[in-house]
Amino acid sequence: MKANTSAFLQSSLENNLDLNTIYIQITHELRKVENLLKEMINSSNPLINEIGNYLFRKSGKRIRPALLLLCSKLLGYKGTQDILFSALIEAIHTASLIHDDIVDNSELRRGQPTVHAKWGPNITVLLGDYLYIRTIDQALKNSSRKILEVLTEVTTEMVEGEITEYYHSGNLALKEEQYFDIIKKKTASLFRATCQISSLLAESNEQVEFQLAEFGLNLGMAFQIVDDLLDFTGDEDRLGKPALSDLREGRVTLPLIFTLQEGNSHLKSKVTGYFQNKGHSEGLRNEILEIVTKNGALKYAMAKAREFGERSKKLILDFPASIYRDSLVLFTDFLLNRDF
Ligand code: FPP
Ligand code: MG
Repeated sequence: MKANTSAFLQSSLENNLDLNTIYIQITHELRKVENLLKEMINSSNPLINEIGNYLFRKSGKRIRPALLLLCSKLLGYKGTQDILFSALIEAIHTASLIHDDIVDNSELRRGQPTVHAKWGPNITVLLGDYLYIRTIDQALKNSSRKILEVLTEVTTEMVEGEITEYYHSGNLALKEEQYFDIIKKKTASLFRATCQISSLLAESNEQVEFQLAEFGLNLGMAFQIVDDLLDFTGDEDRLGKPALSDLREGRVTLPLIFTLQEGNSHLKSKVTGYFQNKGHSEGLRNEILEIVTKNGALKYAMAKAREFGERSKKLILDFPASIYRDSLVLFTDFLLNRDF
């Protein structure tokens, strides 16, 4: 790794790794993505405008747009369609989150009340539909059939992942393989599609398309495992959402699967109690946290996330050296080590 490390990579690693540094090559494009996102919810209906403005007022980390932009630049893409597709991918992600917050009964996102907490679930479902169908409409008008297929197929996969996760709520016998399959579908598939679209825009050969898609898939797996870990360890203010909310909703994630596989019946009864009282017991919550911390489950989950992250880095380091390749390596490290 050291032999491949460029000056940019080296100095960024020595200093504090932050998103602004990683995004430095694409700040101009990201600004345009923000404008396109605002246009997408521009409507003659005042309620759509009101909720849309609320939704995009506080921007998230914009991980998927940054990934698409950096990957297309890595491949030498010189057009401007990467900006449009970055916005479309972010719009799909946003639509999925507002639906997900209803499914997960989440009241807070990015430090502010979720759309359904403010406007109720009925209008929120419709707003998600609106955003999604406007995305597909834009894609229809601007893309090849292949890209359109990638977008519709990935959404189908995400919905399947979300439904499977919901179906398994409260299932304390969930296996690691089943968990990996769920997060692959609900999260990693969109990371994969994001990278694949950049290679389709750049008209890369099939080998490059596959390699970049695999990079995205592994990165998405690492991302979601860390997301699930932060549910146990994260600071609520920093995360902008309450801790242990997966558990409150009966979502069985990797740290819990690891602990339950060890045959920890003590934990089983604590978790069942926590599910039953919908996360209202502070005492139970602390006990569960103590058990998963002590038995090494958090370390185990982090090691798994690193495995996926290392696979990503290996795949990306196979591309010719460039500032974009360095940024993608740093991005992987950032996503692994983030605390929000
Ligand atoms: C967040 O997971 C949710 C997802 C990654 C995907 C949700 C997908 C859908 C609702 C289906 C797609 C729908 C449309 C309209 C495109 P999480 O609950 O683990 O993360 P969180 O803690 O941030 O909520
Ligand atoms: Mg959720």
